Amino acid sequence: MLSAVERKIEQFIADLNDKEVSRLYTQLPHGKRLRAKLILKIAGSSLSVVKTAAIVEMIHAASLLHDDVIDDAYTRRSKPSLNALYGNKTAIMLGDILYSKGFLELNNISADVAKVISNAVVQLSLGELKDVSLSKTFNLDKELYLEMIYQKTASLMEASAGAAALLAGKPKEAYMIYGRNLGLAFQMIDDILDITADAETLGKPSLHDFEEGKTTLPYIYLYEVLGNDEKEKLRSLHAKKLTEQEQLWIKTIMQKYQVIQKSYLEAKVLIEEAIALMNERGEHALSSIAMQMIERDF
Ligand code: IPE
Ligand code: IPE
Ligand code: MG
Ligand code: MG
Ligand code: MG
Repeated sequence: MLSAVERKIEQFIADLNDKEVSRLYTQLPHGKRLRAKLILKIAGSSLSVVKTAAIVEMIHAASLLHDDVIDDAYTRRSKPSLNALYGNKTAIMLGDILYSKGFLELNNISADVAKVISNAVVQLSLGELKDVSLSKTFNLDKELYLEMIYQKTASLMEASAGAAALLAGKPKEAYMIYGRNLGLAFQMIDDILDITADAETLGKPSLHDFEEGKTTLPYIYLYEVLGNDEKEKLRSLHAKKLTEQEQLWIKTIMQKYQVIQKSYLEAKVLIEEAIALMNERGEHALSSIAMQMIERDF
C-alpha cells in the first residue's frame, strides 16, 4: 500500500496548483519511506492512515531539504541535493511549503494525531538547532548527543508510531517506545555509516559529519580511550576539510580501539528492546522492520 501513499503525496502537491513546486518536487528522489511503512504496518491502509503517512513523508522530506542546507550537503539519496541544484533559497522555500502543506492536511486527520505529529516537528527543529550548536564545539558529552539525536530523528519516528497507534485504536505508549528506540538506533547507525560506508554506497561523501564539526558516538568513545597526543591530533582535525591521509588516520584509529563496534552494539541494544516489545504484542512485521534497520548499509 505504499503506492497509495505515493499517490496521496502527489495529490497533496498537485493541490498546491503551482507548476514550479510540482516541477521541483518531481526532482526529489524518493527515500526509503521508512516512516510511512511504519505507519501502515501499525494501522493498516484506511484513507486517514494513508493521509497521515503521506503527511509524515512530506514533513520528513522538508526536514531533509533544510538539513542539507544546514549541513552544506550537496548529495542526497545518491543525487545532487536540491540546494546543490538550485541554491539554498529554493531548498528552504520548498521545505517550508512541504511543512506547511503537511500541517494544513493534519487538520483533517484528528486533533490527537495532529498534536503528536506537530509536537515531534517542534522537537525535530530543536534537535537540528542543537546539532548546529554542538558542532561549533568539540562535543564529548554523550548525554547531549543522545538528547540531540532523540530530538532531531527519533521524535518523528516515535510520533509516527504513536499517531498510527491512535488511528488503529492500539495503546500508543508501547508503539512510541518502539518508534523512539528505532529512531535513536537509526541515527546512531547513520552516524556510523558516515564513517564506515564508502561514498558510493552511502550516496553522500564519507566523514562529512566530522568535517562539519559533528562528534558523533564513535568520536565520543574514541576520545575517551585516546592518549594525550592522539587526543590533541583528533581535536586539531575537528571541523576542517580532511586530507585522504587524515581520513585514513581517523578510520585506522577507530579500528584500533573498536569504537565502531561499541557504538553499533549500543544501537543493537535499542533495537533488541524494540523487537522484544513488538514480539510481546505479536507485531512480527514491526519486529522485522527493526531487524532490517540494524542490518542496513545505507
Ligand atoms: C535520513 O533519513 C535522515 C536521518 C534521520 C538520518 P532516511 O534515511 O529515512 O531518509 P530517506 O527518506 O530514506 O532518504
Ligand atoms: C538527520 O541528521 C537529519 C534530520 C533529522 C532532518 P543527518 O544530518 O545526520 O542526516 P543525513 O546524514 O544528512 O541524512
Ligand atoms: Mg545531514
Ligand atoms: Mg544534519
Ligand atoms: Mg548523517
